[in-house]
Amino acid sequence: MSSKDQKVAVNTFAKEVHEGLTAFPKYLSSKFFYDEVGDGLFQQIMALPEYYLTDAEDAIFKTHKTAIIHSFDADHTGFDLVELGAGDGKKTKVLLHELLSQQVDCTYHPIDISENAIMGLVGTLKKELPALAVQGQVGEYFEVLDKLQGLSDRKKVILFLGSNIGNLLHARAAQFLQRLYAVMHPEDLVFIGFDQKKHPQKVLDAYNDPTGVTAAFNKNVLTRINKELGGNFDVDAFIHWEVYDPESGTAKSYLVSTKKQTVDIDQLALQVHFEPWESIHTEISQKYDDDTVKWLAEEAGFSVTTSFADSEAYYKNYLFKKEK
Ligand code: AVI
Repeated sequence: MSSKDQKVAVNTFAKEVHEGLTAFPKYLSSKFFYDEVGDGLFQQIMALPEYYLTDAEDAIFKTHKTAIIHSFDADHTGFDLVELGAGDGKKTKVLLHELLSQQVDCTYHPIDISENAIMGLVGTLKKELPALAVQGQVGEYFEVLDKLQGLSDRKKVILFLGSNIGNLLHARAAQFLQRLYAVMHPEDLVFIGFDQKKHPQKVLDAYNDPTGVTAAFNKNVLTRINKELGGNFDVDAFIHWEVYDPESGTAKSYLVSTKKQTVDIDQLALQVHFEPWESIHTEISQKYDDDTVKWLAEEAGFSVTTSFADSEAYYKNYLFKKEK
């Protein structure tokens, strides 16, 4: 990130923390979990036995890789594979190997806001898959997509994996898909990972691991406020709390104050009062079913062309095409 971008990021953080902690009820966005520490904690979460999402998507790719690539390129014309939020590219490598083994004419464009992530990923791919054409892109998803659309008319398949769409409420997920729709050419496709509704206990366990990594991940937003905005949160005076509503399919994370307390945030010139057991809502992780995915796709002008599930149907990847 350039120093100008960094300043914008700090200002957005400050503004949204102020808004969320002066609202009733209090909230903070889960996008603020992710700094270097948060990224590391999320890597640990993905390796937890309770966090089934990563393994399920991986199993889908391993089982259905031939059919998935065929669904991207049924006419064998080749395409650009664009991944939003590629990170370390771990989840995509199975598909990249398959592209090479099927000798598909394809360039992989991983996009991430983190320059470090993209440099690391391009470096490892050059070593692991030297025959793969890779052009890493650093920046905001929609800016980069706009730029890529200006560069060529070649069909694009856009990947949005890891159930990242689940961190958006329905209205915001629809908005996100509408923005994608607006930058896509008629023949482009989107391939998205949606975690599915399942036994409520399975969902709760995934977001409430006994080792406490998820709790540390949730509390990292408070640690960031302490570090970056001069806050004095006592993170031990808050507990991580997870709820799941099987009707709406929404898992929600909270930080709950275990006592009456006041927190100072110097850089915001703000004092935040907490009553005993008052909460800060920090994340939603939406679970879906086929009807809700279809509804969401149609809200944004897409239709679902196919989907792929793991053997337990815990998780599905859906392929969308532009309808209108
Ligand atoms: C990144 N995202 C899809 C994760 C999820 O499942 O909502 C973040 C996460 N939060 C707690 N554990 C994992």
